Amino acid sequence: MKSTIAVLEGDGIGPEVIQQALKSLRAIEECFGHQFQLNHGLIGAAAIDATGDPFPEETKNLCLKADTILFGAIGDPKYDKDPSAKVRPEQGLLAMRKQLGLFANVRPVKSYKKLLHISPLKEDRVKGVDFVVFRELTGGIYFGEPRGRSEDGSKAFDTCQYSIEEIVRIAKLAFEAAGSRNKKVTLVDKANVLATSRLWRETVNQLAQNFPDITLDHMFVDNAAMQLIQNPGQFDVILTENMFGDIITDEASVITGSLGMLPSASLGAELSLFEPIHGSYPEVTGMNKANPMAAILSMAMMLEYSLSMTEEAACIEEAVERCISEGILTEDLSPDSGYGTSEVGDSVARFIQTTAHANTKKSLKH
Ligand code: IPM
Ligand code: MG
Repeated sequence: MKSTIAVLEGDGIGPEVIQQALKSLRAIEECFGHQFQLNHGLIGAAAIDATGDPFPEETKNLCLKADTILFGAIGDPKYDKDPSAKVRPEQGLLAMRKQLGLFANVRPVKSYKKLLHISPLKEDRVKGVDFVVFRELTGGIYFGEPRGRSEDGSKAFDTCQYSIEEIVRIAKLAFEAAGSRNKKVTLVDKANVLATSRLWRETVNQLAQNFPDITLDHMFVDNAAMQLIQNPGQFDVILTENMFGDIITDEASVITGSLGMLPSASLGAELSLFEPIHGSYPEVTGMNKANPMAAILSMAMMLEYSLSMTEEAACIEEAVERCISEGILTEDLSPDSGYGTSEVGDSVARFIQTTAHANTKKSLKH
């Protein structure tokens, strides 16, 4: 199969982790007989430096022409230290989400048996954790109008707004996902306080009637923040709005021990984007220390969701698990292992090749 992929490496460790994901992509290309055309574009601080715009028109067009998008990270400390900066790298990410209609952010959280000990939680709480958060990504307080400052500058305001249509389109995806998992959706909201949350509850309750085999639970966001730590094993699919999703996915990401393991998808009606959950991590940029697994697993999600390459995605996941069981890990997972970003990237690509060849031999025998 021939496909075009927009590759946006972005800032900080973005380029180095995406390079590792591309090694695995090349291995898939070779073993499964595909052809991937990679088109590189600028985003974030790198794009501001080159063009003054964190999401330049050229990058947008490159994305619109592609079948799918692989994205690294965004952010640069020089902007974080300056709250008055007029253009910020993050604006590029928000503009991209909005303009490309990437309304559903999917963040799976899965524990790996061999990595239970690195979680800050007790092992018995983390064992078997396997849930996915569906976070609405193009609405709510992130984009609501009006927003800004009063004329004299002494007050600031943001608007949280949702329409039934925005809620239904992501809720449907969450229910469908639950259908092929453990058949439970937990809607996280603040319906005891917020009008938007009450609209979410009403709308999702109604939609649930179309999915009789799925159990729908409700949880206030403050309680959910607590339950995620106390008993993360109870969750299957969590459905929530933009801001709550931002906060609880950062919380959820530490359950399994390292941000460096978690991939994500941002799905739209026509186009989708895949990126590791971790940020640009400037502290280790260029030091061959960043964990490339999240970028590699995001690439696997890309193959599965955007290009329907289920077998290929499974092959990548298997290769990642093999790296884990052989202890080929970056320092966030194993401080004394001595392996760096590019060694882990090479190993995953090599294991993809051995797994794919072994599978071909097996199928030839049958
Ligand atoms: C995320 C990030 C972004 C967000 C920032 C960088 C704008 O935290 O993807 O979770 O808040 O959505
Ligand atoms: Mg966030």
